Amino acid sequence: MRLLYAVATVVLLAACREQAAGDRVLEEANASGNAASNALENAVAQSDAAPLEKEQALALMKERHENYERIGDSMKVITRQLKSGSPDLAQVRGNADTIAQLAPQVSTWFPAGTGPDVGKTEAKAAIWENRQDFAAKAEAFNQAAMAFQRTAQGSDLAAIRAAHGNLGKSCKACHDLYREEH
Ligand code: HEC
Repeated sequence: MRLLYAVATVVLLAACREQAAGDRVLEEANASGNAASNALENAVAQSDAAPLEKEQALALMKERHENYERIGDSMKVITRQLKSGSPDLAQVRGNADTIAQLAPQVSTWFPAGTGPDVGKTEAKAAIWENRQDFAAKAEAFNQAAMAFQRTAQGSDLAAIRAAHGNLGKSCKACHDLYREEH
C-alpha cells in the first residue's frame, strides 16, 4: 500500500511541466502490478458504479491532461498555419484529424471522483454539478471538430478559417465555465 500512496503523492505534486518524473513512477507502479494501466477504460466502465480508487483517479486525470495537451498542441499548429499567407494544408488536415479523433472522447474523461477535491486539476467542480450542460458543451465541440475536419479536406481557405473560428469558440465556451484560469 505504501507504494500506492507514494505514486499518488508524486502524481499529485507533478505539475504540468514536471510529469516526466510522475510518468516514471507510474511505470514502476505498473511494473509492480498495480492497476494504473488502462485507467481510462476501467474508470469509464465504473463511472456510474463505485467511486474510483484514488490511484486510478489520478492516473485518469493525468491521461486527461495529456489528451488536452494534444488537442491544444494540434490547435496551435493549425492556428499558426491558418494565420500564414500560404497555409500548409497537409499540416492543417493532420491536426484536424487528431482533434476530431479525441473530441468524441471528451465526455468520458470526467467520471465522478476525478475533480479538484481528489487531485491537481484545472477541471472545476461545476462540471459535476452541471453534467448535462457540460455534456452539451462537449458535444458542440465534437460537432465543430467534425465540421472543421470535413472542411479542411477541401481547399477553400475562407471556409477553413471560418470552421476553425467556430471550433475555437467551442473550446472557449467550455473553458469559460468549466476550466480554472491559469
Ligand atoms: C467540454 C469542455 C471542454 C472543451 C470543449 C475543451 N476543453 Fe480544453 N479543457 C477542459 C477542461 C475541464 C480542462 C482541464 C482538465 C484538467 O485539468 O483535468 C481543459 C484543459 C485544456 C488544456 C490543458 C490546459 C493546461 O494548461 O493545463 C488545453 C491545452 C486545452 N484544454 C485546450 C483545448 C482546446 C484547444 C479545445 C478546443 C479545440 C478545448 N480545450 C476544448 C474543458 C474543455
